This record gives sequence, structure tokens and C-alpha cells, in this order.
Amino acid sequence: MKANDIKVAASICAGVIGYSYALKFAMAGLEVWAQNRTPESSKLAQQRVHESLNSLVTNNVYTEDQAQEIASRIHYTNSVSEAVKNAQFIQESSAEHYEVKWKIVEQIEAAAAPDAIIASSTSGLLVTEIAKNAKHPERFCGGHPYNPPHLIPLVEITRGEKTAEETVACAKDFYQRIGMEPVVLQKEALGFICNRLQMALYREVADLVMNGVCSVEDADKAVTFGPGIRWGIMGPSLVFELGGGKGGVSGLMNHLHDSTTLWLQDMADWKEFPAEWSDIAQRGVDEELSHRTPETGNTPETLAAYRDHMLIEELKLHGKL
Ligand SMILES: NC(=O)c1ccc[n+]([C@@H]2O[C@H](COP(=O)([O-])OP(=O)(O)OC[C@H]3O[C@@H](n4cnc5c(N)ncnc54)[C@H](O)[C@@H]3O)[C@@H](O)[C@H]2O)c1
Repeated sequence: MKANDIKVAASICAGVIGYSYALKFAMAGLEVWAQNRTPESSKLAQQRVHESLNSLVTNNVYTEDQAQEIASRIHYTNSVSEAVKNAQFIQESSAEHYEVKWKIVEQIEAAAAPDAIIASSTSGLLVTEIAKNAKHPERFCGGHPYNPPHLIPLVEITRGEKTAEETVACAKDFYQRIGMEPVVLQKEALGFICNRLQMALYREVADLVMNGVCSVEDADKAVTFGPGIRWGIMGPSLVFELGGGKGGVSGLMNHLHDSTTLWLQDMADWKEFPAEWSDIAQRGVDEELSHRTPETGNTPETLAAYRDHMLIEELKLHGKL
């Protein structure tokens, strides 16, 4: 299968992630089948697509007519076999349990073309294990998105022991073709790349707050208006390449070696988050929200609207919308 041959995509289990993948595929011009188990959940998926498209219209990404055209490319069904029978690319986003995914894999394979690519949205299960009963495990890979995938470009492609190189290459080309930014993991790693990076930073947030160095709000502010604003443009190694001046990243690392050694020795190295952290984090976030305005988000709803608006503006700068 070649990425250019993919004209029809299926999004199996169109929940939070699956509806958004269906929308992303439709935004890229594909014909899409979105599957849910019940008419009620199909209705919810349709409503979520409608709301997301409205937000893209409000933020001047699409006209009303374009949004309608995108929506018209998505067909809703409660049948896995109807969804996959003509699809060349199948994204499964079922609940994060092997037992659920094994059943879904069986249903997909019973109706899909033998060369259709099947990608799992799994956040942490092993592709090898998800595809262990598959008739064609070579066409399975992981396609781990960040929520919501119709806006966030990153997708982490993972492989199982039996995943074919052609599958990884095709998935990578396909995601690229629809405007996403795939990264391929060379070997299986728990948490993939980004969740490890996020949790390394968040462990330090927890340690700083619990040691009384700063509040949750100030840690958020420090990331948002400091390194975070740069990370939205380029990654940490490129940031340090510039920070090192003529010496580049190697000059910076050598120059700061003694200091960074002291910092690292003082930083958290726990192997699990302290039990009390979740309550401390929640109190800190509640306090932080009470200082914000509706415009920048002070409830989960207005905060999500603010995030989407800013994300869309950032994506426009990156040429991703
Ligand atoms: N939510 C996120 O931020 C996020 C991010 C990246 C990846 N993921 C991954 O995406 C996948 C879906 O997560 P989600 O957040 O969309 O969850 P969700 O609960 O919104 O959707 C899960 C879907 O699975 C279906 N399902 C649940 N139990 C089932 C069963 N027994 N048989 C058949 N279908 C069943 C549900 O009907 C629903 O359509 C998971 O693998 C998750 O790890 C989630």
C-alpha cells in the first residue's frame, strides 16, 4: 500500500480521539467512515465534529461552505465491517484495554482488505500485543496522537515485532500527506517520546511546588512565557543551539556543565509521583483559574476555547492550517 493510494479512511471507535481523527482525515480531503457502537455515540461524534468545525469557522480557518463540505465527507455507522470494507487506512481508537482492542482487531480484519493499514491510537499498550491474534500483524502499527489530533500535528508511530517496514513507511507518508508531523520510534518505549518528556518536566513542577519554591500558577507562568513560548517554535536542542552562540549546543552544554551537574543533583528523581501531589496540583490549579478572566479561560469550557483559539493561530503560523 502506498500513501497516495489511500482515498478512504476509517476511524473505529469515534470517541474523544476517534471523532477528531475522523475530522482530520476529512479536512485532508479523504472520504471517511466514523464508527461507534451505538446510535447515541454516533450522534455525539457528529455533534463533536460540528462543534470543532464551528470553532474552525469562527477562527477564520474555513468558510461555512468549506466546513459543510468537510462534514459531508464523514459517514457515520455502527458497524465496524461497513466502516472498514472500502478503507485503505484504518485508525482504531477503542478503549485502552487489550481485551477491547483484540475484539476490535478481529472485527476489523474480518472485513478489511488484507493490505489496508491499521494504526492504533493506543497511549501505551504494545502494538505486538494488540496484534498478537491478527491474521496480518505486519500491517499494524501505532499512530499515537495528541489531543485533539485534528489540531495537534504530532503523531508518534510505533511498531510491533511483526510490523513490516512498508507499513511504517506508508503510515509515515500518509500522516505527512494529511498535514501531521509523524515521528517514528526506532524501538518500543513506555510513554513514547512526548509523554516521557511531559512527565519529566511535570515531576520537576511537583518538586518545586512541594519544596515551596513556587506556586502551581507561577510554574505554569514560567513555562508558558519562558521556554514554552520558544518550544512552540523549535525544540529544546535547537533552542540551545542558538543559546550557545558560536559554540552551538555543544558549546552551551560544555559551558554549563558544572552548573547543570549541580542542578541535576538537586532535582527530583522519584520513580512515582507522591500521593499528595494530585490534591496539591488541583488546589493550585483552582487558585490559578480564579485569577484568570473568561477571555483567557477560567472554567474548563472557556479554557478549552482559549486553548483552541491560540492553537489555531499558532498552527496558522506553522503553515499547518
Ligand atoms: N484522550 C486522550 O487524550 C488520548 C490521547 C492519545 C491517545 N489516546 C488513546 O485513544 C484511545 C481512545 O481514547 P479516548 O480518549 O478517545 O476514549 P473514549 O472513551 O472517548 O473512546 C473510546 C471508544 O472505545 C469504545 N469502547 C469502549 N469500550 C468498548 C468495548 N468494550 N468494545 C468496543 N468499543 C469500546 C467507546 O464506545 C468509544 O467509542 C485509547 O487507546 C487512548 O489511550 C487518548
